[in-house]
Amino acid sequence: MSEKSTIAVVGSGYVGLVAAVCFAEIGHNVICVDNDESKVSQLSDGEVPIFEEYLPELLARHRNKSIAFTTDLHAATQKSQIIIVAVGTPQSQTGSADLSYVDAVASQIARSITEYKLIVEKSTVPVYTNEWISRVIERNGVSRELFDVASNPEFLREGTAVADFLHADRIVIGVDNERAGNVLRAIYEPLTSGSYYQSADAVPGSRSTIDPPPLLQTSTKAAELIKHASNAFLAMKISFINVVSTLCEAAGADVEEVSKGIGTDGRIGPKFLKAGIGYGGSCFPKDVAAFRYVAEQLGVDFGLLREVEKINSEQKRRFFQKVRSALWTFRGKKLGVLGLAFKGGTDDIRESPAIDLIAQFLKEGCIISAYDPAAMERTKQVLPPSGTLSYAKDPYEAARDADALLVLTEWQEFAELDLDRLHYTLRYPIVIDGRNLFDREMMVRRGFTYLSIGRPGATQVKNAVLSNRLP
Ligand code: UDX
Repeated sequence: MSEKSTIAVVGSGYVGLVAAVCFAEIGHNVICVDNDESKVSQLSDGEVPIFEEYLPELLARHRNKSIAFTTDLHAATQKSQIIIVAVGTPQSQTGSADLSYVDAVASQIARSITEYKLIVEKSTVPVYTNEWISRVIERNGVSRELFDVASNPEFLREGTAVADFLHADRIVIGVDNERAGNVLRAIYEPLTSGSYYQSADAVPGSRSTIDPPPLLQTSTKAAELIKHASNAFLAMKISFINVVSTLCEAAGADVEEVSKGIGTDGRIGPKFLKAGIGYGGSCFPKDVAAFRYVAEQLGVDFGLLREVEKINSEQKRRFFQKVRSALWTFRGKKLGVLGLAFKGGTDDIRESPAIDLIAQFLKEGCIISAYDPAAMERTKQVLPPSGTLSYAKDPYEAARDADALLVLTEWQEFAELDLDRLHYTLRYPIVIDGRNLFDREMMVRRGFTYLSIGRPGATQVKNAVLSNRLP
């Protein structure tokens, strides 16, 4: 039986909240700290502010037992040996990560240290942040003996965050001495020993007692770089396949076949090779920019990352052109839009390519009826309903009398639509699929004009673009 620790988690955003609930799930006492009073009272009442599988169940399981919520960072620090910092690191104007929240939290923690504490950075931060946190704490008069700072990056994806945490591919801990290493290894012991997976109530996933997640211990700097490099690499994979999809369109090949052919090479792997309308979300755009900035600061030319970003914007522009080529003109055209979230399985619309595209279509004078299974409420806050934008109660309502239907988010629900019903609901049976959700041949058999990304059929678009240029 592993030892129970008391852990304070500062920041109850995606990473903080999921980590806090999961630490409670593997047997620790957790104090979750946030300076947003309304969020704290919501969470204390058992309401979950984000759409995430297993989170409501686990919160209900541990609330009022091993997890508590507070705004009092001072008291939480005093009661805990481990303080996990998971506050936001938004993008600043230069593209670098804005570390002012991390800085402020480090100073506040410092003022509450009277005995040994391990401060763990879990927010995505640039290399050297660890050293800055140590400096801030020392400047506040705390002796080096009384604290360590470690890095423990989080790799969870929205929508599968709880399972990603509890069934991690790997757990990375960056420490600069064994005292910190011992404390951090101990809190993950229920996962790394496999004991968690013996419980009948354990959240299901890929890991098991005989195949627990490996723990990788590195220096703090390496752990900081691992997080940024992982996200940048995944974003690069997506941009790579997106350019290959353009090549496929030019050559008349199918990117899905090419992607499978590349991905079955064990050295490359099949994941993150899905062509689409570009990556979005709260992490990839921000982290690629921040990593590029880190490289610049260290005098390293990481031009590859600039290309990754450029390709990602170009991919949205290409989709926009694809729609134009199918519709010829935009003003007064009615578009049904399926999908607002930056990916399927989440209500998050941060940096969603769908939102950018909708804003552009509205600017061009289109009339849009949009539907998303989870993200409509959030979208209404940035794109309120208007004379030209409405929100539908289901996909068929969004499609009603539309000149074309656009698929902008890869929700499974969309892949299972009744195609015959969709066909007679649309004014013209044109589907422009930005996520390659449908089988191309089946769509053509069902009588749709079907355009997607990097698949044959897109040549029609090329011809259409050419004909648009005709006088
Ligand atoms: C990402 C990382 O995966 C995760 O490890 C990190 O902790 C946070 O950032 P997340 O932002 O939740 O997670 O989304 P992810 O599933 O990685 O997708 C990011 C974007 O890439 C989405 O817009 C998605 O639609 C797009 N994507 C993903 C593709 O276009 N093609 C793919 O093959 C995969």
